[in-house]
Amino acid sequence: MLCVLQALTRQLEEALERAFPEGAAAARASGASLDPQLAPASKPEFGDFQANGALALARPLQQPPRAVATAIVEQLAADPAFTALCLPPQIAGPGFINLTLRPEALVAEVASRLADSRLGVPLAGAAAAVGGSGTAPDAGGAAGIVAPSPPAEPVIVDFSSPNIAKEMHVGHLRSTIIGDCLARVLAFRGHAVLRLNHVGDWGTQFGMLITHLKQVAPEALTTADAVDLGDLVAFYRQAKQRFDEDEAFQTTAREEVVKLQAGDPVSRRAWQLLCDQSRREFQLIYDRLGIDLQERGESFYNPYLPAVVADLETTGLLVTDEGARCVFLEGVSGKEGKPLPVIVQKSDGGFNYATTDLAAIRYRFAAAPAGDGACRVIYVTDAGQASHFAGVFQVARRAGWIPEDRRLEHVPFGLVQGEDGKKLKTRSGDTVRLKDLLDEAVERADADLLRRLEEEGRQEDEAFIRHVATTVGLAAVKYADLSQNRTTNYQFSFDRMLALQGNTAPYLLYAVVRIAGIARKGGNGGAAGDLQFSEPQEWALVRHLLGFDAVIAEVEEELLPNRLCTYLYELSQVFNRFYDQVPVLKAPPEARAARLALCHLTADTLKLGLGLLGIPTLERM
Ligand code: ARG
Repeated sequence: MLCVLQALTRQLEEALERAFPEGAAAARASGASLDPQLAPASKPEFGDFQANGALALARPLQQPPRAVATAIVEQLAADPAFTALCLPPQIAGPGFINLTLRPEALVAEVASRLADSRLGVPLAGAAAAVGGSGTAPDAGGAAGIVAPSPPAEPVIVDFSSPNIAKEMHVGHLRSTIIGDCLARVLAFRGHAVLRLNHVGDWGTQFGMLITHLKQVAPEALTTADAVDLGDLVAFYRQAKQRFDEDEAFQTTAREEVVKLQAGDPVSRRAWQLLCDQSRREFQLIYDRLGIDLQERGESFYNPYLPAVVADLETTGLLVTDEGARCVFLEGVSGKEGKPLPVIVQKSDGGFNYATTDLAAIRYRFAAAPAGDGACRVIYVTDAGQASHFAGVFQVARRAGWIPEDRRLEHVPFGLVQGEDGKKLKTRSGDTVRLKDLLDEAVERADADLLRRLEEEGRQEDEAFIRHVATTVGLAAVKYADLSQNRTTNYQFSFDRMLALQGNTAPYLLYAVVRIAGIARKGGNGGAAGDLQFSEPQEWALVRHLLGFDAVIAEVEEELLPNRLCTYLYELSQVFNRFYDQVPVLKAPPEARAARLALCHLTADTLKLGLGLLGIPTLERM
């Protein structure tokens, strides 16, 4: 109900202006305005919204808060637009104004959502019109005036980003799931989203790997598919061990990196093959999870590294310290209170992870076509990289690479732990392979389903069982991850994530299935003219349904997918309470049509919400 909130805010501001013209003028003169502080009601018994501004305005207006509130309410009563929207306001406590929407206003909102595939969520940049949600992208066309659309400034979501020749681990899975959800929400809001996979495809690991493979498995460097990723990971481990122990190997490996970075054709070809091999394995995971990503690895920024150094030199930020060229951070100090540096170029002339990220920021904000011209850049990685990003963000800001009003954000997340509260490991103590983890989720969902079919005496064919088990298993993994506040560590538990009860994917998927069943028997219900509600459970469901747009706006702003999960979970609960306590299919015709319409809108909201989490729904399960 964001558009209602906006309309009410305006009406309250105007009421304040009329009630206190001198106070408003004085506020304006000092560059401020009288703020009614309108917010959604903190408790249902306070109505739909509350305006808390009277308390803060008491002092500047030199009146007791309740008198301020009373004057506002008197002015509101004289505004026909307000009285059409709200019941007479109540003044509570020291001077809070409680506002309750008229049933007709709520019904009108429900009706407009039933006819709106965006369910009231406006497109970014579209002028919010009261009563409508600004949905039709071609609305201006009808009047013959089509404003030239400004070039879309992309929002970049940098997520997943595993490393070549290393196994993709659970941390990358979290980044993939969270990043995908954020990208979906931002795209749905109408932003041009660039989903970038910043894979680790450059750097010392290739020197070690190529040197080692030349000796033990040269075919891997010249023939596609000669080794699989599992072998590659093992070779990498051996190479790393030799690198740590053997000085001669170290020297050769370093020379190998230099050759690669200088574009030596043999090294390049070997590198290409290794990357392709990893890429194919990563793609299997992305395909399974329905993840769309554009690969733009670290190597992409190689040509831009010298410009980073040159820029930092020009701005006078670069300092040479023990042979390394670095920028000392402001306001951050390490041991013994010494300022911490971001190393931009190592003493041997090499560049590192931070240099690449500096080049990436510079490129992403630079105006097209020499860069992406992004308006917002979001990085989804584990919280362990927080100080890395804080450092490079600071350097980029001081270098002047981030134009005003542009946003640069690190979206950190906690660790995935086993049920013992320690880092997730297999029983034998190895790191968990993503493929195995997803397989197990699907297998368990399959077993749960077979058990349920048996209990219910149902017969289903093989294709149905495979489809449901796959959908539920993968949904459970995604939802378990997204429903936690991402900043905390989370405990991975197959049993908990696959439970049919509680804040889980199966519970939500089941709510959708339940409503699909109702619709098969009763249809989708009435249209605008038929909507009449009388039961408290109906109104509770109406009010919850109408909160969808506000939740999406919150996720877009705060980048916390768990807000959307909580909303959907509560919606399912409110719906189940409604459906258990109020007859729908057996209701008298008028009420039946209205209630079926509520069921329909609930299903649409759940499907759209789950879709934005990257979770497809089922009609039967
Ligand atoms: N490859 C890195 C890792 O595995 C993540 C990269 C995140 N993105 C970035 N621009 N640094 O930890």
